[in-house]
Amino acid sequence: MFTLLVAWALLLVPALGAVTWTATPFNPASVPLAVRSPYLSAWLAQGSGTALNGAWPTFWTGSILGWAGYVKVDGVAYNWLGDPAVPGTTFTKATQKSLKFTSTQSVFVMTAGPVDLTITFLSPVEPTDMVNQSLPLSYYAVSAASNDGNAHSVQLYTDISAEWVTGDNSLTANWSTTTGSVLTHQVQLASQTQFGEVGDHIQQGSAYHSTLNTAGATWQTGQDTVVRAQFINNGKLANSQDTAFRAVSDRWPVFAFAHDLGSVNGATAPVVFSVGHIRDPAIQYIVANNGRQNRSLFFWTRFSTVANAISTFLNDYANALARANAFDAKVNADATRISSDYASIVALSVRQGFGATEITVSRTSSGGFNTSDVLMFMKEISSDGNVNTVDVIFPAWPLFLYTNPTLGKQLLLPLFEYQATGQYPNKWSVHDMGASYPKAIGHNDGNDEPMPVEESGNMLIMTLSYTQKSNDLSLIRTYFNLLDQWTQFLITDSLIPANQISTDDFAGSLANQTNLAIKGIVGIKAMAEIAALVGDTARSSNYSSIAASYVTQWQNFATATDGTHLTLSYGDSSSWGLSYNMYADKLLKTNVFPTSVYDMQTNWYSSHANAYGVPLDTRHTYTKSDWEIWTAGLVTSTAVRDLFVSSVRNYAADGKSSQPLGDWYETLDGSVEGFRARPVVGGHLALLALQ
Ligand SMILES: *[C@@H]1O[C@H](CO)[C@@H](O)[C@H](O)[C@H]1NC(C)=O
Ligand SMILES: *[C@@H]1O[C@H](CO)[C@@H](O)[C@H](O)[C@H]1NC(C)=O
Ligand SMILES: *[C@@H]1O[C@H](CO)[C@@H](O)[C@H](O)[C@H]1NC(C)=O
Ligand SMILES: *[C@@H]1O[C@H](CO)[C@@H](O)[C@H](O)[C@H]1NC(C)=O
Ligand SMILES: *[C@@H]1O[C@H](CO)[C@@H](O)[C@H](O)[C@H]1NC(C)=O
Ligand SMILES: *[C@@H]1O[C@H](CO)[C@@H](O)[C@H](O)[C@H]1NC(C)=O
Repeated sequence: MFTLLVAWALLLVPALGAVTWTATPFNPASVPLAVRSPYLSAWLAQGSGTALNGAWPTFWTGSILGWAGYVKVDGVAYNWLGDPAVPGTTFTKATQKSLKFTSTQSVFVMTAGPVDLTITFLSPVEPTDMVNQSLPLSYYAVSAASNDGNAHSVQLYTDISAEWVTGDNSLTANWSTTTGSVLTHQVQLASQTQFGEVGDHIQQGSAYHSTLNTAGATWQTGQDTVVRAQFINNGKLANSQDTAFRAVSDRWPVFAFAHDLGSVNGATAPVVFSVGHIRDPAIQYIVANNGRQNRSLFFWTRFSTVANAISTFLNDYANALARANAFDAKVNADATRISSDYASIVALSVRQGFGATEITVSRTSSGGFNTSDVLMFMKEISSDGNVNTVDVIFPAWPLFLYTNPTLGKQLLLPLFEYQATGQYPNKWSVHDMGASYPKAIGHNDGNDEPMPVEESGNMLIMTLSYTQKSNDLSLIRTYFNLLDQWTQFLITDSLIPANQISTDDFAGSLANQTNLAIKGIVGIKAMAEIAALVGDTARSSNYSSIAASYVTQWQNFATATDGTHLTLSYGDSSSWGLSYNMYADKLLKTNVFPTSVYDMQTNWYSSHANAYGVPLDTRHTYTKSDWEIWTAGLVTSTAVRDLFVSSVRNYAADGKSSQPLGDWYETLDGSVEGFRARPVVGGHLALLALQ
């Protein structure tokens, strides 16, 4: 990754307000609402206590995504989502009663006078079904229930704005509405840029807002204040379209639905909506001879039209909810075996990790889909927009290992395929597949961000890890020569690592980094295991003995003179850091480092934690939440493990920021550094991947 100095850290945190609702398990800085892909990423910036109707939802960057909700109860209008002003109308704010989040859902209960609304934002995570996982649609479902024992007349309203299709609100959008058994508003830029982003929004494809066309459903497109006033004053919409296509911010066009729920006493069945953002082609991919291939989201292999996909998606809500509840329950049960603090961190991390990824397929020369060519892409959100950054996939790896190792293979394949074409000139592993998502066009000039030991070790470790979990030898058989090339590099360069950066590039470069050497040595040992798996016993025993001899030498170089801890860099006894790369030795069961080193580190960390955890290293007091949890996975004491876990939980729940969970934070006061919404929070599943 490459650190951009950004103004986010300077954004004002909302004033501390007393939270009046119950939060389960806690109030996160930002609540995921619709988080499924780098371009479908809607959040509620909650900070220390902003209700669902206390602010506009935002894109992960913090820019507003217009998304409003009203309900009329016995003729009285209440606003339950977003923060609109509608001149000439009268309405009050519903009161938030509770918020609950799980791995796939954020559920709010809002009181609108004598009626309670339950709003379920469901972003499915379906790691074993490539079609379902690749569909960039998210549900929100609203049910109403009387809270005073009497029946009430209820009408429900929602809309989205055209802010969902661009990072530049001065651009012209156009839109249309289809009205069959499903009502769908489709909106897009009138002039599109293939594979182009503005402010991290893709300038291509369309946003979709949909609901089932059940009895009492109405729709309308038009200026925000006009359409919202229509509902507030009449309880229904005009079934009319505004065709004066214009800039997103010119009399803000919105795309609205209303449902008449009639007389409500007990809880109603949920009214189901979907929001989505779909483009095709999705990814530009480098092939041999600097060729370019267009890749489509995998869901197209089952659905021939977007309308088809949306209709199936909406009609499947009850089943999708049941699948999500089962998934959430399994993740929660597995994580609760560590602790409830741990389960809460995991629940907040799963959607965010998957929300940076997309599963794609190519076409054959005859135009059909080649379903044996499935590649997954990941955007390095927020630190920069790189594609499939090796040292971002690496921290996130436990998420894929735990939910479905095949996804890990699909993330690594672009890196293997590209480097196997011979176009990448360096002898170590490439850093990423392209500087700017969604352009996976490689680095034929070899001038990618140089992290030679980091990325070579990462590739070897992840490849063996995938192979062990899946028993699929295809990666190691097909790419044996590349893996061996990276190993040769590590043999020369990892015991005495040259002055270079690690994944924590923001901390600066340094020679002889102990933690980088750990990675290189585990990488060499991983290749010994890989060679053994394909029957190359001579190579296997050679690399095994090299790794073993490096460990002995490394212990001399890397241990502080008083023998109490590993140093940050060789010879600097007063320095130290999180030796999180030892987690790989645990994960792979390679046992290259003696137990005494694990015990020494455990003991050291037990007395070097600040209020919000152990610093990344002695150069600064900040840390990384992913590496805290990785380190929790290598310590030999349950109490020290729990110290790391609780530190991250306390940071995530401290209400000091309002941005999607940031992995880089300050251990002294729990404030966030410059990153947000990154997929590396998949590393919070590190303890699950060891189970
Ligand atoms: C994927 O979604 C479809 C509905 O589109 C559903 O029938 C199917 O069960 C889902 N697949 C899995 C593995 O859950
Ligand atoms: C909107 O603009 C796109 C070009 O980006 C065009 O293909 C489409 O037909 C337009 N739609 C409407 C409803 O005008
Ligand atoms: C990829 O898609 C773009 C946009 O649809 C198109 O202009 C281009 O010709 C396609 N390229 C290939 C190699 O198919
Ligand atoms: C389909 O993809 C596989 C894997 O990339 C490739 O080996 C095969 O040649 C492709 N088939 C066609 C018909 O393009
Ligand atoms: C790195 O460590 C080795 C072994 O202790 C030492 O010989 C070398 O001088 C160190 N290099 C730097 C740049 O400190
Ligand atoms: C072991 O591997 C190293 C690095 O590739 C090589 O230089 C050496 O010759 C190998 N030793 C044997 C005995 O094969």
